[in-house]
Amino acid sequence: MIGIDDLDVKGRRVFVRADLNVPLEGETITDDGRIRASVPTIRKLLERGAKVIVGAHLGRPKGSPTPKYSLAPVARRLSELLGEDVAFATDVVGESAKSTVDALQDGQVALLENLRFEPGEESKDDAVRGEFADKLAALAELYVGDGFGAVHRKHASVYDLPKRLPHAAGDLVLTEVEVLKKLTEDPARPYVVVLGGAKVSDKLGVIANLLSKVDRLLIGGGMAYTFLKAQGHEVGKSLLQEDQLDQVRGFLNEAVTRGVDLVLPVDVLAATHFAADAPHEVVDATAIPADREGLDIGPRTRELFASKLSDARTVFWNGPMGVFEFDAFSGGTRAVAEALVGSDAFTVVGGGDSAAAVRRLGLPEDGFSHISTGGGASLEYLEGKTLPGLAALEE
Ligand code: 3PG
Repeated sequence: MIGIDDLDVKGRRVFVRADLNVPLEGETITDDGRIRASVPTIRKLLERGAKVIVGAHLGRPKGSPTPKYSLAPVARRLSELLGEDVAFATDVVGESAKSTVDALQDGQVALLENLRFEPGEESKDDAVRGEFADKLAALAELYVGDGFGAVHRKHASVYDLPKRLPHAAGDLVLTEVEVLKKLTEDPARPYVVVLGGAKVSDKLGVIANLLSKVDRLLIGGGMAYTFLKAQGHEVGKSLLQEDQLDQVRGFLNEAVTRGVDLVLPVDVLAATHFAADAPHEVVDATAIPADREGLDIGPRTRELFASKLSDARTVFWNGPMGVFEFDAFSGGTRAVAEALVGSDAFTVVGGGDSAAAVRRLGLPEDGFSHISTGGGASLEYLEGKTLPGLAALEE
């Protein structure tokens, strides 16, 4: 994979595929981490005299223009962070895109409207995606893949476009890959992985792969209840994926066979219902009342997890330990984050919710070795899958 330092970009139109998929409340960006992470590559290209055309997606608008998924608020934030005007095209490959790109001078940047407003972006049909990629290719002369969070998607702007233009990986992608390689190739031990989040079904592949690699696997968040149930405990009204119980039993057995220390919560905050102000109490994880739901790991589990992290030399963490958006149920996620901040280990936060949690809870971002911008992408990398966006850049 070549980097942008090997591309001659001066005076040339460079399409940068970025991941600017940030959470929005109305037009307010609630976590701009991905925009900030995209700035260095764009800035470097501008400083080298490129005409930069940024393409990105926001949400899942399913192939047609949808105002609430417009990238307009992102263009404004990008402009503030770059300290440069960002011309915004109100379509993706239409008249606005063409005239905006035509007007670019060396060292100027434009952002196209949401790539997913076009059905060709996500089409399963190679020909349809290819046709859309041709239109994108006509806007530019060079391609830079820097949207790490989307490299696991076989989408036109991620997979087909780099096949049509001379291409390179952006600095963000190069850094992300270097970090994830460190986790997969000979990590310093003990290697501890902490997984959370709502659904165990999202993590099946990664758990299956990690069981042969890690020394300890700590499981919290909504997915822990399926593990507790698989061990034969009642979990009340807590999140449960009944259809995953057999698979999870298999993981529990495999962990024993392989000598992996698979650690589950020993206590939880059991609430009457899912709400920020729901009455709740600490109960043993093996005795969740039938009318309660677990919304966070309890204080003994926080200590247990912190102790399991204390001598770690490599840590990967993906997924919150509870409903961190509600203050009353953010303590478990905070405890894991603080244990990582205080650790000398090589610590990697897998993107998505856990990265947002770090920022929302006000923890120092430089307290971690790396905060990935890729949620699904970093998990699929650790699963050992081939990521289409990386494969295309390697060609
Ligand atoms: C993400 O949020 O993980 C990336 O931006 C990819 O988004 P997607 O899951 O909608 O493809």
